[in-house]
Amino acid sequence: MMPGGTIKHLHVVAHAVRDDPAIRRFVGAIMDVTAARLAERQLREVQAELAHVTRLTALGELSASIAHEVTQPLAAIVTNGEACLRWLGHPIPSPEEVQACVERMIVDGKRAAEIVRRVRQLTRKGVSQKMQLDLNDVINDAVSLVQHEVVSHRVSLRLKLSPELPPLFADRIELQQVILNLVINGIQAMDTLSDRPRELLIETLRDEQGYAVVAVHDTGNGIKPETANQLFEPFFTTKPNGMGMGLSICRSIIEAHGGRVWASNHVRQGAVFHFSLPPTKVNES
Ligand SMILES: Nc1ncnc2c1ncn2[C@@H]1O[C@H](COP(=O)(O)OP(=O)(O)OP(=O)(O)O)[C@@H](O)[C@H]1O
Ligand SMILES: [Mg+2]
Repeated sequence: MMPGGTIKHLHVVAHAVRDDPAIRRFVGAIMDVTAARLAERQLREVQAELAHVTRLTALGELSASIAHEVTQPLAAIVTNGEACLRWLGHPIPSPEEVQACVERMIVDGKRAAEIVRRVRQLTRKGVSQKMQLDLNDVINDAVSLVQHEVVSHRVSLRLKLSPELPPLFADRIELQQVILNLVINGIQAMDTLSDRPRELLIETLRDEQGYAVVAVHDTGNGIKPETANQLFEPFFTTKPNGMGMGLSICRSIIEAHGGRVWASNHVRQGAVFHFSLPPTKVNES
């Protein structure tokens, strides 16, 4: 801390010189790395801000889907409420029927509340909050928000989730964002298909190094070799309304978790996007 109260970050390097056994000498240098530290912090803040904005954009794209996910259980509640009233108005009311209706209403009410909770979670702003989590759970959460999107684009979505994943120490919202970005890209990549089924497969597995791996496969037209090394660059897009930020955000999130993300083509058709995450280290849990 400087006399004026400001903080400077210093990087000190030194080593002992043993030319005279009677004297211990150190030779070293002190570098002022304050500017670099501040720039790093600003970069992290800007990245978090950008991730937040693109998350909101993705949610905007999904808004019809999300509205549908909430409206459906609400409509079911109304239907069951009406049925309840009818049973109560019967000359011989049936408590069992009324009870069954009310139970269904509670389940649907909880379902709607759960969707709202997940959307609100995704709109959260702020820096990374890492915790111990189950990757398959994160995938199920993300998938619940795109169900309708999948159906309305005539895509069949399949999950192949391994029960043997390592425990992870990660930010749930950020991983959901990665999965949503890859799923939305997969759906968009199959939008023009008319000659074959539109299939999206989300797979999890544990690789030989003990890393958790997620693979999102589609049956679209795949990645063109000439664009393969630009996919993850910010603002690279081949879509008329694309921002080109999806994959670049995915990469920065996964790398901040010590993992990596890569893409390839299937032999016959379609692309597959993979990411891998290291298992929890003992000192993190
Ligand atoms: N599943 C896929 N199959 C084929 N090409 C893909 C696939 N996913 C991404 N790409 C290519 O990579 C480009 C970059 O993807 P990215 O998600 O970063 O941006 P975007 O989808 O174009 O826009 P944004 O995600 O910001 O709305 C896409 O425009 C597309 O050309
Ligand atoms: Mg995208």
